[in-house]
Amino acid sequence: MTDNCPSFPPQNTLKEILTRIEGLLAERGTASPDVEARLLCAHLLSLPRPTDLLFHLQHPLTPELSRKLSQLVSERLSGKPLQLIVGSVDFHSVTLRMDAGVFIPRPETETLVEVGLKFLGFLSGGEPVKVLDLGTGCGAVLIALACRTGFGGVGTDISPMALALAMENADRNQVGDLLEFRQGDLYSALPPSARKFSLIVSNPPYILSSQIPTLPPEVRDYDPREAIDGGEDGLGMVRLIIEEAPGHLLEGGMLAVEMGEGQGEEVVGMFSEAGFKAVETEPDLTGRERVVSGILPGS
Ligand SMILES: C[S@@+](CC[C@H](N)C(=O)[O-])C[C@H]1O[C@@H](n2cnc3c(N)ncnc32)[C@H](O)[C@@H]1O
Repeated sequence: MTDNCPSFPPQNTLKEILTRIEGLLAERGTASPDVEARLLCAHLLSLPRPTDLLFHLQHPLTPELSRKLSQLVSERLSGKPLQLIVGSVDFHSVTLRMDAGVFIPRPETETLVEVGLKFLGFLSGGEPVKVLDLGTGCGAVLIALACRTGFGGVGTDISPMALALAMENADRNQVGDLLEFRQGDLYSALPPSARKFSLIVSNPPYILSSQIPTLPPEVRDYDPREAIDGGEDGLGMVRLIIEEAPGHLLEGGMLAVEMGEGQGEEVVGMFSEAGFKAVETEPDLTGRERVVSGILPGS
């Protein structure tokens, strides 16, 4: 067998196997080989948490599990994202099921959730609060917001596959009754009679088309093109979201949009041009500017 399809001798304990997988993933340049090795083995043994592996460390694997593990590790070594292999992702405060063909939520997008939560925490009384998530994907941002606040909302996407997964994830996280998912191009997914929203969030495609071929294979080959390609300057969809937001926001409502490195100044300018006040940029956990938000003033 090649290193891309490693075999695990039957006499090896799980502890020895974990060390071997960690080494293989490290050789391939995986950022957190220890964490990934544990997640793969926990998935193999259907354990709810990687810490549950502690009870199995001294045992060998059955030949069937050993073969299955070879397959999982070989998929990972060939570049398939871990989240698609184990079929789930932990995002902010929720666990979401993942499927091929739907954008995998990234840790940096948790900043968008935090900006939304901070704003929603200030709201009280008045109209019932509703959140709109444009390009909801598997529902990550909207579901995390609903789980933490109990507020309802609408998630839109052009991808029917993403929306089916978002609905399933909302139900799995017990917020299915609070949320609605609609297919369509940005705001046109909303019915003409839709009430205005207190908060609009979006993590739209914002990578320059010319940069897509240079992305790591894990992104380029697995994230759907329509989820990452932001057009010639990367900001085509960001621009539309900002320009049309005032027509869908309540007075005093917030728009918060994720963007890429180096796009901050231009995006802040778009918010100001569209009439937003208190425009702010929020960095992600790595310190890179990640989210721009602004408040729609009263007339
Ligand atoms: C970067 S992904 C973000 C997904 C999710 N919000 C997240 O953060 O994990 C962008 C999403 O926008 C959707 N999308 C792309 N173009 C769209 C459009 N014109 N209207 C609505 N959604 C769109 C894609 O299908 C994809 O699910």
